[in-house]
Amino acid sequence: MTGGDGRFTEFRTGTGWDVHRIAGGRKLMLGGVEIPWSYGLDGHSDADVLLHAVTDAVLGAAALGDIGEHFPNSAPEWKDAPSRRFLEEAIILAEQRGFSLVNIDSTIILETPKLKDYREAIRKSLAEIAGLPLDCVSVKFKTAEGVGPVGRGMSAEAQAIVTLAR
Ligand code: C5P
Ligand code: MG
Repeated sequence: MTGGDGRFTEFRTGTGWDVHRIAGGRKLMLGGVEIPWSYGLDGHSDADVLLHAVTDAVLGAAALGDIGEHFPNSAPEWKDAPSRRFLEEAIILAEQRGFSLVNIDSTIILETPKLKDYREAIRKSLAEIAGLPLDCVSVKFKTAEGVGPVGRGMSAEAQAIVTLAR
């Protein structure tokens, strides 16, 4: 298979998923953007659930293991770390194997707050971190319709899918 310009011969798809608990006294970081809210997400790093899902999708597409293998949450190095470092590092690891990131599609599942007003800010931030044009980065939002832990406001989830080419 070749890309439109004939440069690529191999395409890879990877998926990622993550969940973090909602907690008081924490920031809500999504795609590197701080969303104003009275709660945030708990975790060892800055708990950016979207960046974690995208990082796992990149690692998955390149068959390079997962985020916990590369950035263990037992390591003091990653305590309160900005999660953009995980994604940047995953992309470097993929690039070292000849892959370029083509696009990101993603979904954040969170009951409140409403996120659609932040869509462009999150897309822009994610595009900048990933080194992609804006039109190759998609971020969608869903509630859990009041069902399950996400629906009861206990946690936030993110799903991501990426394509790599080489
Ligand atoms: O989950 P539901 O289908 O009801 O979501 C409807 C729309 O609300 C979504 O397509 C999305 O645009 C928006 N939404 C949002 N912030 C959320 C959840 C959903 O802006 N936390
Ligand atoms: Mg995480």
